[in-house]
Amino acid sequence: MAFETIIVDVEDHIALIRLNRPDALNALNAELLSELVEALKDAQTNEKVRCIVVTGSEKAFAAGADIKMMSEKSFVDVFTEDLFTPESHEIGRIRKPIIAAVSGYALGGGCELAMMCDFIICSDTAKFGQPEINLGVMAGLGGTQRLTRAVGKAKSMDMNLTGRFMDAEEAERAGLVSRVVPGKELMKEAMSAASKIAEKSMITVMAIKEATNRSFEMTLNEGLLFERRVFHSLFATEDQKEGMAAFSEKRQPQFRDK
Ligand code: CAA
Repeated sequence: MAFETIIVDVEDHIALIRLNRPDALNALNAELLSELVEALKDAQTNEKVRCIVVTGSEKAFAAGADIKMMSEKSFVDVFTEDLFTPESHEIGRIRKPIIAAVSGYALGGGCELAMMCDFIICSDTAKFGQPEINLGVMAGLGGTQRLTRAVGKAKSMDMNLTGRFMDAEEAERAGLVSRVVPGKELMKEAMSAASKIAEKSMITVMAIKEATNRSFEMTLNEGLLFERRVFHSLFATEDQKEGMAAFSEKRQPQFRDK
């Protein structure tokens, strides 16, 4: 399917989704969000795809929700259309792993989109922020929730209340991103992480994603029990037999997602 605001390439088991509204620093408007959801759902159902990478441009992953799209809307408009709710639910339903490869600005909805992905790899030019307060509003796609869980209350309050940006080094120190690399290395690093994941058993990959995300919704004891039960269930797979046999036979496992 041809998209207007994103570019999608599927190669070597990886779906690479590039946000592509260069004139608006990839601001998230209705069209882009709907195309992104469509592309993610395509990747979910495409058997060839084993990992997804979402990225932007060198200057901006995404500079937020599209302010021009929102500026004239009333409370009744955004409440009635439930602005951003369907998209965030759809993105949350993707079971395959999603890596955000961030260069430049990841602000507002851009930072929130990166945090909806399973982990973030960024370039040393990355800048994260929730500057919605400067617009007389607040984060609406997870900036007060996921950011707080990622970096703790102090830094989340600081960013949401002052609107200041966090650079790549601080973001790594705070646990918002998993890796920082020089700008030129970003896509190589993200694609290589995606390839590593693509080699694993998809059943295990999806189970790990589900269990890790459950940790945000459950008490520790319930989460530990959920994890253990899923761990037990993986012994019903051929991939568990293959993985453990390959270890004993000192060879690489050949996973078949069974
Ligand atoms: N929405 C719409 N257009 C945007 C945009 C946004 N979020 N961010 C940038 N643009 C547009 C600019 O209007 C400009 O377009 P024109 O050339 O037509 O004027 C173009 O992108 C380039 O931007 P700048 O000229 O501003 O570039 P810069 O390098 O001087 O500054 C920037 C870069 C610091 C990121 C600045 O563009 C900026 O502050 N952007 C807004 C960031 C922001 O407030 N994001 C939060 C949005 S609200 C939100 O996201 C709500 C939510 O939680 C869901």
